[in-house]
Amino acid sequence: MNERTSNAADPASAVTMDAVRFHEYGEPAAVLRLDRAPVPGPGPGRIRVAVRACGLNPADWALCRGLFAAELPRGIGLEVSGTVDAVGEGVTGVAVGDAVLGATDYAVERSAGAAHFAVLKHWAPLPEGLDPVRAAALPMAVETSHRSLDHLGVAAGHTLLVHGAGTMVGFAAVQIALARGARVIAAAGTTYAGDLRAMGAAVTPYGDGMAGRVEEAAGGPVDLVLDTAPAGGAMPALVAVADGDPRRVLTVSDPEGAAAAGARTSFDKDAPRALHYDVLGEFAQRAAEGRFTVPVARTFPLGEWRTALDISQSGHAHGKLVLLPAALRGHLPA
Ligand SMILES: NC(=O)c1ccc[n+]([C@@H]2O[C@H](COP(=O)([O-])OP(=O)(O)OC[C@H]3O[C@@H](n4cnc5c(N)ncnc54)[C@H](OP(=O)(O)O)[C@@H]3O)[C@@H](O)[C@H]2O)c1
Repeated sequence: MNERTSNAADPASAVTMDAVRFHEYGEPAAVLRLDRAPVPGPGPGRIRVAVRACGLNPADWALCRGLFAAELPRGIGLEVSGTVDAVGEGVTGVAVGDAVLGATDYAVERSAGAAHFAVLKHWAPLPEGLDPVRAAALPMAVETSHRSLDHLGVAAGHTLLVHGAGTMVGFAAVQIALARGARVIAAAGTTYAGDLRAMGAAVTPYGDGMAGRVEEAAGGPVDLVLDTAPAGGAMPALVAVADGDPRRVLTVSDPEGAAAAGARTSFDKDAPRALHYDVLGEFAQRAAEGRFTVPVARTFPLGEWRTALDISQSGHAHGKLVLLPAALRGHLPA
């Protein structure tokens, strides 16, 4: 479509685009499809971007299964980079043509980031030197890890276990905790073990015997635990390694385990309500300078979303999976 023909003031624009959406709730492979959808207009306080790259997350599949359920159809794709093509009422500091990265307004819109155009609720300028593909991998991992580390109170001098440090949230958390001056033990698979060690973390495999290996590496129990592992079942071991105190353990991925053990979750009543997208610009700048990274495993044209879904659902994505809705089709990150 010709983006200049779209009317930002008219949310019910008749101009359509490609978007990966679902029209009923269910398993993502069954309900998702590449659709023609109206190009959304940005409401007050929002911007619209022509999407360059869209990071996929386990949360996308949870949306299909009914997380944050709302009127259907709806789209997937929570984080993007792109070029601003329309600015909503009351928005200042950003203009049509600016390159940005940010988080989509998935709860309101009928399409999200896996589309040619997306409405963003949170954004930051794309710094010079940051590849748009790498930029699209940042928002969710940065926001979740930064918010979770603050919720746990991680600071200089703490010994922190990041369980699932090979997930993108965990990988980001290790970097942020080390930058705060914490000592970090990373329980991770082999994919990023070398990178985690190079950053300064002590690395041990997850799975059987993890608690003993962590205590050996730490010289005793750890102060705090952040659990980002996509598979549950480790909570008793995580509480044990936190000297038996479940309140020193925060999970972003195992609410059932947390409820059984009395551990904390990012959905607790006392959890910070505000999302931490205000730090996105700072971390994008760090990424542009090579001081922070969320690795990209693979990119896909929008039409190959199903391959990305299969890899993600294997539980071993080994980095961020990124859709390229248009201009960067075929681009591979260096
Ligand atoms: N509450 C929130 O606000 C929030 C926000 C974002 C994400 N999350 C949740 O946080 C979790 C991580 O998300 P993500 O996007 O960072 O995941 P991800 O990058 O897709 O995680 C995939 C990686 O997990 C590793 N893994 C697989 N099984 C594991 C296990 N049993 N223990 C430890 N690591 C294992 C695999 O690495 P190896 O093959 O190398 O082991 C794989 O590459 C997900 O459960 C997600 O739903 C929650």
